[in-house]
Amino acid sequence: MMERPVTDTHKGRTTKDGIRIHEAADFAGMHAAGRLTATILDKIAEHVTVGQTTGQIDALIEAMVEEAGATSATIGYKGYKHASCISVNHVVCHGIPGAPIPKLKSVSRDLEKRRDSDALEDGDIVNIDVTVVLDGWFGDSSRMYVAGRPAKRAERLIDITHEALMKGIEAVKPGNTFGDIGHAIQSFVEGHRMSVVTDFCGHGLGRVFHAPPNVLHYGKPGTKSVLEPGMFFTIEPMVNLGRAETKTLADDWTAVTRDKSLSAQFEHSIGVTENGYEIFTLSPAGKFHPTY
Ligand code: MF3
Ligand code: CO
Ligand code: CO
Repeated sequence: MMERPVTDTHKGRTTKDGIRIHEAADFAGMHAAGRLTATILDKIAEHVTVGQTTGQIDALIEAMVEEAGATSATIGYKGYKHASCISVNHVVCHGIPGAPIPKLKSVSRDLEKRRDSDALEDGDIVNIDVTVVLDGWFGDSSRMYVAGRPAKRAERLIDITHEALMKGIEAVKPGNTFGDIGHAIQSFVEGHRMSVVTDFCGHGLGRVFHAPPNVLHYGKPGTKSVLEPGMFFTIEPMVNLGRAETKTLADDWTAVTRDKSLSAQFEHSIGVTENGYEIFTLSPAGKFHPTY
């Protein structure tokens, strides 16, 4: 049997599972979009400080997207109005910039309490998630920041979550499966007695924001679709210090941990290559992980 020439494996097509196989030339567009997202996440770092508001941070991000000649993928997405999601402390994801920050310790079990404002306080841990569209390509990434001095257990949570993302990425190569990625993340996180959120997942992307497959952050080795060169997707594990369960607040966006435990998340957009992966959203300044 003849082997298919390597250059052919990137021909544009869709797998039986509905996953787009991009052409080799498409990697350049994803690198450009991803680099812009990462540059914005680099530049916003100095603004994540005690007293700064999430509304101001989002306004800066919106201006940076515009300045770069790109557009925000999230403004207008399902009625969402902001250029970022900013998720503080026990907010798991989809925190709304400018909205009063949900309080970590609620006295009432039924009513989610809110702070008076969207200003960051000493010790807050903050996920900022930005998705841009540049020349039609989507760059989606999020990382953790800290305002002031976080608690030791919060630093540990951030470290483990970042390492979990990287373990997932290291499982990316042709012939491995999406179940291998999920398993790498879940086994690492649970080995550190933390929990992986199962209510949200990563996703295929490219010329669209969300495409097949759902990239689960848990799973069994050898299960789910087989990875092929030319697949583009995000890996974006959310990890909780307590239990995995989440709930969505009355604003219909903000997802929080049910037990009010701290939650962290990191997200990269990546592409599968002939022998592994390329990360599109690597930090040009080497600032992907916060310093404490
Ligand atoms: N960027 C998020 C993701 O990782 C999606 C945000 S959707 C929004 O998929 F509407 F909340 F902005
Ligand atoms: Co995403
Ligand atoms: Co995102």
